[in-house]
Amino acid sequence: MSGTIAQRKDDHVRLAVEQQRRPAAGNQFDEVTFVHHALAGLDRDQVSLATSFAGLTWPVPLYINAMTGGSAGTGRINAALAAAAHQTGVPIASGSMSAYFKDPGCAGTFSVLRENNPGGFVMANVNATASVDNARAAVDLLAADALQIHVNTVQETVMPEGDRSFASWVPQIAAIAAAVQVPVIVKEVGFGLSRRSVQQLAGLGVAVADLGGRGGTDFAAIENGRRPLGDYAYLDGWGLSTAACLLDAAGAGLPVLASGGVRHPLDVARALALGAGAVGASGTFLRTLLDGGPDALITQITTWLDQLAALLTLLGAAHPAALTSCDVLIGGRLREFCADRGID
Ligand code: FNR
Repeated sequence: MSGTIAQRKDDHVRLAVEQQRRPAAGNQFDEVTFVHHALAGLDRDQVSLATSFAGLTWPVPLYINAMTGGSAGTGRINAALAAAAHQTGVPIASGSMSAYFKDPGCAGTFSVLRENNPGGFVMANVNATASVDNARAAVDLLAADALQIHVNTVQETVMPEGDRSFASWVPQIAAIAAAVQVPVIVKEVGFGLSRRSVQQLAGLGVAVADLGGRGGTDFAAIENGRRPLGDYAYLDGWGLSTAACLLDAAGAGLPVLASGGVRHPLDVARALALGAGAVGASGTFLRTLLDGGPDALITQITTWLDQLAALLTLLGAAHPAALTSCDVLIGGRLREFCADRGID
């Protein structure tokens, strides 16, 4: 197992969990408010959490988003995340599988996502410089149902050992999308996909955009934490919030998933109301797992799903997509963002 990559994976987990203990800057979900209608409610048994987008149907509109793999410790984390996904029925994504391409000896730290979650919806994860062969190998290793390609120019820039060449990403995303047999989801890692980015992706054969916005895990701050001088500290907080991305990307030509700074079931409902097909969380689930253990994570996910169904019931939404018909108010800086971007 390559020392440098394995060390980086362990650093990311440690720094991401430390970051979760402080309130995140730039989260704009609190600027999205449902108008309360006292007689809107349904019966709980009229509500289904099943969601469909891009030809996929998931039992619930919540997923464990990409995090880790590639070291012994992160393999144990993946084992626990996959067991929680299996227990609760939520889809799950692997962390970047580039460590596996460099050292096939760490395959088990990723394949445990499938082994511990045999019937679940599993997403493989590669970067936008992965070869077509490696993208196929990533899907094969996990018997994956979809492939995530992460785009993370800000993280790479601040990462001491990161990439500095990004021009090949667009043609490579198109090449991978044309070659693999499963739907391709392009995701940001916490800096957000703008309307322009989603429009670009729509022309590349990509099935879904995971907006991956600001407001939770901040990889500029994490990579600054791995630099002795924190030289790029002024990039902490860069990017578009997930709520802003959802408003910006409406009608941009691709189904969207929302992730980045999702803190509780109300944020899930807000993101669904703004058009997300499903909503992902990473850092908050990781913190629960590391602080409380596997059972705490299962309890948290079960509670979120139960409360989400309760919110749909009181809001009068029989299924997640029905939340888009709810009256929602946009306030504060998010309202200014909409005005600046010409969003009604
Ligand atoms: C991540 N994320 C991530 N994303 C990705 O596509 N490939 C990866 O390898 C990783 N690695 C990773 C490690 C750790 C420890 C964390 C917490 C996150 C990014 C993740 O999928 C997500 O986009 C962001 O974390 C924003 O969501 P949260 O954490 O605010 O819910």
